[in-house]
Amino acid sequence: MAPKEDHAEDKIRVEEQLTSIPQELLMALLDNPYESMILIDSHGIVRFMSRANDGIYLLPPQEAIGRHISEVSPETGTLRVLETGKAEIGRSMLLDNQWRVVGRIPLKRGNRIVGVVGKLMFMSHEKLKSLYRRIDKLERNLDFYKEELNALNGSRYTFDSIIGDSEPIRQAKTLALQAAENDVSVIIVGESGTGKELFAHSIHRASPRAGNNFVRVNCAAIPHDLIEAELFGYEEGAFTGANKKGKPGKFELADKGTIFLDEIGDMPSDVQVKLMRVLQEKEVERIGGKGPRPVDFRLISATNQNLEKMIGTGMFRLDLYYRLNVISINLPPLRAIPEDIPLIFKHVMNRLNETRKQPVHHVSGQVLEAIRNYPWPGNVRELRNVVERAMIVCQEGRIELADLPISVRETPPYKNPVAAGTSSLKEILESAERKAVMSALESCGNNRVKAAALLGIHRTGLYQKMKKYGIE
Ligand SMILES: Nc1ncnc2c1ncn2[C@@H]1O[C@H](COP(=O)(O)OP(=O)(O)OP(=O)(O)O)[C@@H](O)[C@H]1O
Ligand SMILES: [Mg+2]
Repeated sequence: MAPKEDHAEDKIRVEEQLTSIPQELLMALLDNPYESMILIDSHGIVRFMSRANDGIYLLPPQEAIGRHISEVSPETGTLRVLETGKAEIGRSMLLDNQWRVVGRIPLKRGNRIVGVVGKLMFMSHEKLKSLYRRIDKLERNLDFYKEELNALNGSRYTFDSIIGDSEPIRQAKTLALQAAENDVSVIIVGESGTGKELFAHSIHRASPRAGNNFVRVNCAAIPHDLIEAELFGYEEGAFTGANKKGKPGKFELADKGTIFLDEIGDMPSDVQVKLMRVLQEKEVERIGGKGPRPVDFRLISATNQNLEKMIGTGMFRLDLYYRLNVISINLPPLRAIPEDIPLIFKHVMNRLNETRKQPVHHVSGQVLEAIRNYPWPGNVRELRNVVERAMIVCQEGRIELADLPISVRETPPYKNPVAAGTSSLKEILESAERKAVMSALESCGNNRVKAAALLGIHRTGLYQKMKKYGIE
């Protein structure tokens, strides 16, 4: 290895060379039609963008300079490189509707990362095209096999599919992860559309049973006189109309895996008794069968009903409830976690963008305000529908207030009865800060430089606050 002083000398030599290059030549080197380069500083602000980038990013070079990179390229990976300091070479990225090969290189001064340079890596047009075609085909095949694999063991989601940074969602995720690792019964309780099925899938996928079947039974959808046959199976000729050869029940199919009893509040009382026995004995007996057979399953159940109330009226068995309820996960309705609403909105939007020709990247501040205030009786499922609709009706890739359904945009702010009057000082301050940022932006026609000046804070401080409160 060369001694340290040599390095220092090399550096001086390079610096000497650079300072002796005429400015004009330096500019030509960086800003030529073949060199697609974007340079951000340590705050993520765009400091340089070559002409070759015109039309590729959301803003042209002259408007991009001085803006935060997330406004210029929402899917950017440069911020990650800023954080990790690790170069990313030869990654593919969708830009201006085309998959392109990009490189991102951290710029360092000593141990400090002072910026990141992002480059599009050009090749001859034809070679690039054939490479795109190959990548596209591979990605499509990969998607196909991923789907096949998931369909085979029946579960589609993992914990990564669950979006939300609020305390209730974090707690639910932590508990679900603990449940996944321990082979106990789990019950998931929450209003319609709060992600009960999503959590059930994720628990299975994170558990040691992940390689085996995930079998979902919708107790509300099976006709009452068939539920027993569905759950426990039947032997040949067990009853008229039954399949000649007999059929395994869902518990048998879930052997070594997970059985998910969805809408368990709809299970008839007589089946509840039988279910209780299966849970105690870990054995099932087919209808018309000659004896019980052992089954090894983990039970996850879910309901949007109040089982305690049902126990009170004799509709649900208390002993069964205790069996199901080793770990109980409560999922909050969206109106209780307003801070997560913009996150989920954008997540759904990004997912849908993957299959759109014209991606949608902008959401106005008014939209974010309105969706936080709306009480979302249908929770995430309803939110998904609203995002999908807005993306279809919006113009020029921007979602504005008018793109929301009237019910969402005209609902007066929702007052959480629990929080009202009992807000902590932190919550009150944050709410005031959010309002101040929004009204400063509004009164400055969304000009961030002016809004930051009006608030008497630095522009990067304003960006941080906007990010914190989900304001675009
Ligand atoms: N935290 C979340 N992050 C991302 N997507 C979510 C989240 N919660 C729910 N979803 C999505 O919302 C939709 C509804 O979720 P899911 O089917 O799990 O709800 P559910 O509680 O089972 O509703 P129901 O009681 O009506 O059956 C799904 O598309 C799911 O992927
Ligand atoms: Mg469900």
